[in-house]
Amino acid sequence: MTTLLLHLADVDEAGWARRYAEALPGVQVVRHGDAFDPAAVDYIFVWKPTADAFDGLVNLKAVLSLGAGVDALLQHLALPDRPIVRFIDPDLTARMSDYVVAQVTMHQRLYTRYRRDQAARRWDQLYPPAAVETNVGVMGLGELGRDAAEKLRALGFTVLGWSQSQKQIAGVRTFAGDAFDAFLSETDILVCLLPLTPETTGILNADTFGKLRRRLEGGPVIVNAARGGHQVEADIVRALGDGTLGAASLDVFETEPLPAASPLWALDNCYFTPHIAAISSVEAGVRYFSAIIRAHEAGQPLVNVVDRTRGY
Ligand code: NDP
Ligand code: OXD
Repeated sequence: MTTLLLHLADVDEAGWARRYAEALPGVQVVRHGDAFDPAAVDYIFVWKPTADAFDGLVNLKAVLSLGAGVDALLQHLALPDRPIVRFIDPDLTARMSDYVVAQVTMHQRLYTRYRRDQAARRWDQLYPPAAVETNVGVMGLGELGRDAAEKLRALGFTVLGWSQSQKQIAGVRTFAGDAFDAFLSETDILVCLLPLTPETTGILNADTFGKLRRRLEGGPVIVNAARGGHQVEADIVRALGDGTLGAASLDVFETEPLPAASPLWALDNCYFTPHIAAISSVEAGVRYFSAIIRAHEAGQPLVNVVDRTRGY
């Protein structure tokens, strides 16, 4: 009998187990606290697995990652040398694009400026730029970045994109690899949807901010919905204070939860959310991974397998 082991932290593991059992009749679904034979486990479904999560799983066929980002999983010291399938789903993608569109539109409409005016009871009719006059640069044109870029484009923004390899996206000016500076120099609002790898760690830093186009009232803006490891928070605090950046929207942080002592809490031009930009819904996750298990058990190859060399 096929066995699926769930090893999840910070989410409703019992709820996931119930839904998997309904979706996969004939598959034994066990949780990591249960009594089970580790050698019988075929698939493990993980989110923040503990150090012993993979102990004894000698017949594992695949690691299924609830996270779309696998940076932390790849750091796991006992990660078995088995394929890792990550979560890719239209529901997750749509939720992320909702977040990005909301933040970008808020900044294009000069929200920081008007919030300050309101606090000061000041009536000052400065008209925001049109969407087409606002250049949004999306870093990462994968599952999430491409959708966000296309939706921003549909709203009338001038959209630029940057990725490792050259991409073609209708209506989006694309840059690749070492054309990073050229991409930055035309960007007013910089959106990060990169995976966290050694190459992208700390990419949101003072040097990057200094290269952004300075046409938006108040200064250029960053939106980070990828990983906290992309951002150098000391540089962000400085840049938000000295006007190098006009504002920032951050969904992720170097340390999560954001420590109470972080100066970011007190900055009125920093808008943050507690890593909720795009949560994977149980319905979508169970549908996606159940289909993958069924197909693989029927002899089909696994899909959306992480390239461990690239790190995403
Ligand atoms: P993908 O792997 O589909 O896409 C990654 C993109 O980044 C690709 O276009 C890739 O280029 C590009 N890229 C990677 N490395 C570089 C580099 N060194 N220079 C330039 N471009 C690079 O990832 P997703 O779109 O699915 O997800 C992105 C990240 O979003 C995840 O890794 C995760 O960390 C984060 N995330 C955050 C969530 C939240 O709630 N805050 C929720 C879900 C995900 P190429 O195509 O050429 O390979
Ligand atoms: C993810 C996340 O990677 O929620 O899916 O951050």
